[in-house]
Amino acid sequence: MCGIVGYIGYEQAAPNLLSGLEKLEYRGYDSAGVCVYDGEKLNVFKAKGKLKILSDMIDGGKAVKGTVGIGHTRWATHGEPSDANSHPHLSDSGKFAVVHNGIIENYIKLKDHLIRRGVKFYSETDTEVIAQLLDYYYTGDIIDTVIKVLSKVNGSYALGIICLDNPDQIIAVRKESPLIIGLGKNENYIASDIPAILEKTRDIYRLDADEIAIITSSDVKIINTDKDEVKKEVQHINWDISAAEKGGYETFMFKEIMEQPKAFRDTINPRIKDNRIVFDEINLTPEQFKSFKKICIVACGSAYHVGVVAKYVFEQTLRIPVEVDVASEFRYRNPIVDDKTLVIVISQSGETADTLAALREAKSYGAYILSIVNVVGSAIANESDDVVYTWAGPEIAVATTKAYSTQLAVVYLLTIYFGDILGTISETEYKKYLSELRLIPDKIEQILKNKEDIQYFASQQFDNRDIFFIGRNLDYALSLEGSLKLKEISYIHSEAYAAGELKHGTISLIEDGTLVVALATHENLFEKTMSNVVEVKSRGAVVLGLTCENHPEIEKSVDFAFYIPKTCDIMLPSLAVIPLQLFAYYVASLKGCDIDKPRNLAKSVTVE
Ligand code: F6R
Repeated sequence: MCGIVGYIGYEQAAPNLLSGLEKLEYRGYDSAGVCVYDGEKLNVFKAKGKLKILSDMIDGGKAVKGTVGIGHTRWATHGEPSDANSHPHLSDSGKFAVVHNGIIENYIKLKDHLIRRGVKFYSETDTEVIAQLLDYYYTGDIIDTVIKVLSKVNGSYALGIICLDNPDQIIAVRKESPLIIGLGKNENYIASDIPAILEKTRDIYRLDADEIAIITSSDVKIINTDKDEVKKEVQHINWDISAAEKGGYETFMFKEIMEQPKAFRDTINPRIKDNRIVFDEINLTPEQFKSFKKICIVACGSAYHVGVVAKYVFEQTLRIPVEVDVASEFRYRNPIVDDKTLVIVISQSGETADTLAALREAKSYGAYILSIVNVVGSAIANESDDVVYTWAGPEIAVATTKAYSTQLAVVYLLTIYFGDILGTISETEYKKYLSELRLIPDKIEQILKNKEDIQYFASQQFDNRDIFFIGRNLDYALSLEGSLKLKEISYIHSEAYAAGELKHGTISLIEDGTLVVALATHENLFEKTMSNVVEVKSRGAVVLGLTCENHPEIEKSVDFAFYIPKTCDIMLPSLAVIPLQLFAYYVASLKGCDIDKPRNLAKSVTVE
């Protein structure tokens, strides 16, 4: 959600800024801009629309002189996408240029205050308030002025600032929204995320809340708002550079779908030693775990859907009550949570604003926080009592696939681990679950080999107006994800329903030709779901049935069947999600949608 880059060094800044912004396109944006110091003044170039428009305007950056600059891709929150609302924003005097990710919550009050004192505004954004405040409070000391301005604003921010009076430095500061500093040789960078700088350097600092970085080409100094120097550890990123490249695939999403067997293995293998699950990273003791009276799971979007799967799985195997909430609801519902509650927070980015706020809310009641996170060192990881990382590698496509799968992998590891502690699973079940878990990546591979079957079905069905996903229990949890995946990348209206719930209202929407995707992977509920299939078929629905290999009779009831290999019941979602991802992917592809960057969506939602 918004991308920030900054460059200071000996090379021309603008091409560096554009190349960094290109790597951040996945975050979602609707306009882009750069500001470069040309030796005399701060030159700003910005344009609504794709980065290419900006790039063409400045000849790939070659037309812009200067070795210090900041750039931005904006995902509109305050003010429509337009040239004027794009960042960077200049202060009225032209002395300060600012790029911002986040939301300044009290900007209206601040703006009114400045307008009453004669300050002119040129955009509708909350960000411009920061540029104008910097002018307004400027004392000649840039750092003092930045600290003063920060004391005036409420909200979330990652900021990159250049000041004409000291153009040989970039100031970077953050609260809530992520920002990293890339460390080069006689050149340094700022960025919202690692892919922007990975080609240039693998050594980074992660800025923490209200740390201010003063960056020159040869030095990075970090201070807090009391101006005390902060010593930080350099983090070395050891991702393979190909992890952040498409590597011959048409889209990141397809690449990430195909990477799932590896991501799943990378997540489970380091935690299996001598046929036992070992969580070296967890401080939670078995005694502590036994003292919990309930588990609450909080997350957003697809991560929430993992939580819905986890609720079924944990309750079935651990026999502990589990609540699952979308984070934006949990944080405002005065939840009943205390030190006898384990709160599991799930997030790929580790920066989702609502999830982070829900974590803090739960923590304030004394709950123990265990998070499942992909991005190492992210805010959610840092603020949790325990963190279990999903080793999915960078996920670039907006629609999550491999992060979802690896989050599920961690849920299964935790299930077996906690079940062993509580004694709710026997030794025989332990062995069975563990061996099934190890086979999941091979079985995902097997499903991926049959992707053309799903592609064929998608080619018959890609022009639907509405698509319904139905299933019971874990199949229902999975229907939620199948439906979300489809709607976010193909823009087809879709809903997921607990199959038994259809006849309480929604079945009235089924008419001739309506597509229903029926998930019937669970042995004990197969017949029940089939009866719902018969209900929708008799009202004219076209049905794609998804079941396990041992149910070929499904073909008598549905128009098209897709089979997944068998595994133990609780792990079926890891297999059944693959055809659903592929279906969404092929439908979106046939519709010509921009799959990696769906409209209106951002990869990491760092504002409420
Ligand atoms: C959907 C998707 C989103 C995220 C959600 C939470 O494909 O990716 O629904 O799952 O925004 O994001 P994280 O996991 O980063 O907290």
